[in-house]
Amino acid sequence: MKASKESGKFNEREIARNQAFENIWSNEINEVFADVAFYYDRVNLAASLGMISWFRNSFVSIIDLKSEQKVLDVCAGTNAVGIALLKKQPGVEVFAVDRSPEMQQVGQEQAKIHGFHIDSTITDVHKLPFPDNHFDVVTLQFASRHLRLIEVIQEIKRVLKPGGHFYHSDMLRPSNKIVEKAYFAYLTGCVSVVAWLFKSNEYSLGCKKYFVDALKMFYSPEEMTQLLFDQGFTEVTSKSLLGGVVGSHKAVWTT
Ligand SMILES: C[S@@+](CC[C@H](N)C(=O)[O-])C[C@H]1O[C@@H](n2cnc3c(N)ncnc32)[C@H](O)[C@@H]1O
Repeated sequence: MKASKESGKFNEREIARNQAFENIWSNEINEVFADVAFYYDRVNLAASLGMISWFRNSFVSIIDLKSEQKVLDVCAGTNAVGIALLKKQPGVEVFAVDRSPEMQQVGQEQAKIHGFHIDSTITDVHKLPFPDNHFDVVTLQFASRHLRLIEVIQEIKRVLKPGGHFYHSDMLRPSNKIVEKAYFAYLTGCVSVVAWLFKSNEYSLGCKKYFVDALKMFYSPEEMTQLLFDQGFTEVTSKSLLGGVVGSHKAVWTT
């Protein structure tokens, strides 16, 4: 697959996603993560029916690391990715960036428990507070559905060194219509059960529909591959689990 002449279609989708979710992204989503921060890992375990470790291990397995490389984990949350990368290659330097102080507080505690240091910056990732050509590796897991993705990718390209790698993983929109239908039906029920189980606050309850709608407007694994090529990445490869319910992508930034 190469860069398509249809990159306009991704720009149009981004405009539509932004119009649909702008209000939630700018206000409510931060309150949702403040609410779930202290039981986020248990929510993931319940919502994924115990498969969260499989999803995470599958993502980490495609990430190549060398000692002394600088890694930026975008939307780092509770630092699950950063900790897994430090376990894999203790010689890397990990920087976490996330807008939620609560998620990062848990992330810092988790890093400490594992005996690791992860540098933490609290900010909106649509502008990354790092110099150009700074990181060897950038990772982004389970967050791109909540972002103006192409805008964040522009920033990721800016901070990546030439030849650096971008690794992306998220819940995606399955391209198979039968899988898609079953998946959205499961998610609709699951979000309600999880909200009840964990006594969610008013913001989390208000976002129940959003979590399914955001996926309905998101990209399939194939679209994500094409989007990354269109954004100028090379050697884009992907790995899908459960028929595209979760997808991971690896891409090289050469310019
Ligand atoms: C579902 S969590 C994923 C966390 C982590 N990457 C993981 O794999 O568990 C999504 C994270 O994205 C963060 N986030 C969402 N929108 C953001 C934004 N515009 N800027 C910075 N962080 C954002 C949230 O605060 C939250 O910590």
